[in-house]
Amino acid sequence: QVMDQFLGLRQTERELSRYLGIEHCLIVSGNSDEQPKVLTEMGKLVNSTLQLLLPQGQSVVAVMGGTTMAKAAHELSTDLSKKRNLIFVPARGGIGESVDIQANAVCAEMASQTGGKHRALYVPEQVSEKTYAPLLEEPSVQEVLKLIERSRGVLHSIGEAITMAERRDMPIETIKMLKEKHAVGEAFGYFFNAQGEVVYKIPRIGLQIRDLLNIPCVLAVAGGTSKAQAIEAYMHLAPQQTWLITDEGAANSILQGA
Ligand code: BG6
Repeated sequence: QVMDQFLGLRQTERELSRYLGIEHCLIVSGNSDEQPKVLTEMGKLVNSTLQLLLPQGQSVVAVMGGTTMAKAAHELSTDLSKKRNLIFVPARGGIGESVDIQANAVCAEMASQTGGKHRALYVPEQVSEKTYAPLLEEPSVQEVLKLIERSRGVLHSIGEAITMAERRDMPIETIKMLKEKHAVGEAFGYFFNAQGEVVYKIPRIGLQIRDLLNIPCVLAVAGGTSKAQAIEAYMHLAPQQTWLITDEGAANSILQGA
């Protein structure tokens, strides 16, 4: 029976990747909305998938923030460093989340788990154009931006649009606009509708979705029934080489609507 379950999941993974039009999906059993330990299992898959896909040698990995990424960080291991010099960098500027789930913190944790290095990006999320421009000239910021350009791996999650807008304390008018435009999901600071059309973008520096095309290892990590719609929508924008690491909660809900 355990074997049947295993084969069933592998079959669902194939169906899901075909339906979403991406390279590969990995599904953990359970629903992370209800069982937090499912996120830990997803984190372990992040480790093994990086081991499989991340080029050897000097390897810069650009990382986004969030609770999913923070959990995954704890599951990375020193095995990853065996044939690689790892450097974790925040994929985009953006201090605005609680400190422990900011990309800077996630990068520090990933470096400590793997024995790699990390760099921090001290650029706040919502500042005026006037404040932003000189910050970008800072040598420490420039250095990180150059590393981001060289990244060989990207780790990110996908969020529900309104949940993310509220968590980031975005202005009431912006949230209203997102609702009017039927935003369902968010990734990399891009908000999009169910068809994957970008309806709003937080003007931040660093990685843009179009830059993902040239990166060999792109892992999207998101689970839970609550994120099903956001995940499905993002896959219209995702580059084809994306690997999705998710759970049954999200996978079954996406395939039910298929
Ligand atoms: C944010 C990222 O920090 O986390 C977003 O900037 C992402 O791009 C979000 O969608 C996901 O958060 P969580 O907590 O649902 O993993």
